[in-house]
Amino acid sequence: MAVQAFPIQCDPTLLSDIRQYGKFDPTGCYQCGSCTVSCELVSDSATFPRKSIRYALLGLRAPLLRGLDPWICHDCGDCSLVCPRHSEPRISMITLRRFLCAQYEWTGIGARLLQSKAWYLGSLISVAVLTVLAIVGYHLWYVGMAAKDFATTPFGLDHMFPIMTYYTLAVALLPLLLLLSRIVHIWRLTMAGEGIGWTTYVRQAWVYAYQMVAQPLMRKCPEHGRWLQHGFLALGTVIMLAIKVFGLRWFQTDNIYPIYNPQRWLGYLAAGFIIYGIWGILYGRWRAQKEIYKETHFHDLVFPVLILATAISGLAAHSLRYLGFGLACHYVYALHVIIATPMLVIEMSFGKWSHMVYRPLALYFTAVKELATQQAPARKAVSDAI
Ligand code: HEM
Ligand code: SF4
Ligand code: SF4
Repeated sequence: MAVQAFPIQCDPTLLSDIRQYGKFDPTGCYQCGSCTVSCELVSDSATFPRKSIRYALLGLRAPLLRGLDPWICHDCGDCSLVCPRHSEPRISMITLRRFLCAQYEWTGIGARLLQSKAWYLGSLISVAVLTVLAIVGYHLWYVGMAAKDFATTPFGLDHMFPIMTYYTLAVALLPLLLLLSRIVHIWRLTMAGEGIGWTTYVRQAWVYAYQMVAQPLMRKCPEHGRWLQHGFLALGTVIMLAIKVFGLRWFQTDNIYPIYNPQRWLGYLAAGFIIYGIWGILYGRWRAQKEIYKETHFHDLVFPVLILATAISGLAAHSLRYLGFGLACHYVYALHVIIATPMLVIEMSFGKWSHMVYRPLALYFTAVKELATQQAPARKAVSDAI
């Protein structure tokens, strides 16, 4: 009898590769299955969290990269609570997400940054320093301000148009485009071999929008209030980003508006949403009592801290302007830009924020696969009949 070649390749380096991205220690796992039973998201097309973890342990790189499960896991921690071996499957899923982020990223920069705190901090600081240089250069050469006037001239904000509009477009939209450019690569990794027709993708397109806006999986989290908190944070960030990218001329002005003008209350509302959402995350992680906040990795902290610092510095610049402290407002506004730029450039392109694209995408692709599976018997019956 001929011996058949086994088509699966094991890669002994996979486990050590994954461990470069954080804690991944399920070696004590004896496959009891309690984690999978406890997970609310388990379905025929997603068998949490064991499948992905098993792939990693067995060195099955290709199936791991093809899988979307780590993005569907909403980090509720139920699996870690029930694990009799304290293998912490939730933490393994978080590390797998970081590992996958680096695999989706074609420049190689993401892998460097996500593997090393020094590189990550270095990249944030480098972008901040470039921003400082851009601000100083703008005042010295574009505006023609003498260096000695830096400490004495209250300038206002209006003078920065249109350059600030182009700047905001560049630092917000370029990282977003870079992030979106990975969708094709992720499709190739996860969907290309499935032979699914484009009509199925079109039919399920609503899933992407729905998951992006409503984030229904997080609603299942036993940690009540998390969905609302995260929803407010996401909504506040999107409103603020939209204002800054599309309505900067209207928003960033030296005019003084009454409180009922949308220019003011919309800004306060967005800032309030952001601070409320971030406060919950940072407080929870500081106390580290609930399962979802245990084991905070460096990368989990940088993003919320940067969002909070951006929101507070923006509010401070606004308050100083309304209180009539022109020079202080100008300096604090510069600080606001120096914090916001690395957050947008690094966090959106390579860091935690990329999940706003990857998560809905994974859920969309999963829905496409599910529909294609449902249609398969029907398609076969039609072709048999023909
Ligand atoms: C502007 C958009 C978004 C922002 C600012 C944002 C922000 C955040 C932050 C700061 C965290 C960390 C929470 C923690 O450390 O405890 C987080 C986690 C999470 N987000 Fe978002 N998010 C956005 C969009 C989305 C979307 C579109 C989805 C889903 C479809 C999503 C699903 C999740 C999930 C499941 C978690 C928990 C697991 C994890 O930390 O990776 N987010 N989000
Ligand atoms: S953390 Fe929650 S969603 Fe993720 S695998 Fe565990 S039980 Fe499932
Ligand atoms: S509950 Fe723990 S020991 Fe059981 S299969 Fe899951 S990770 Fe392994």
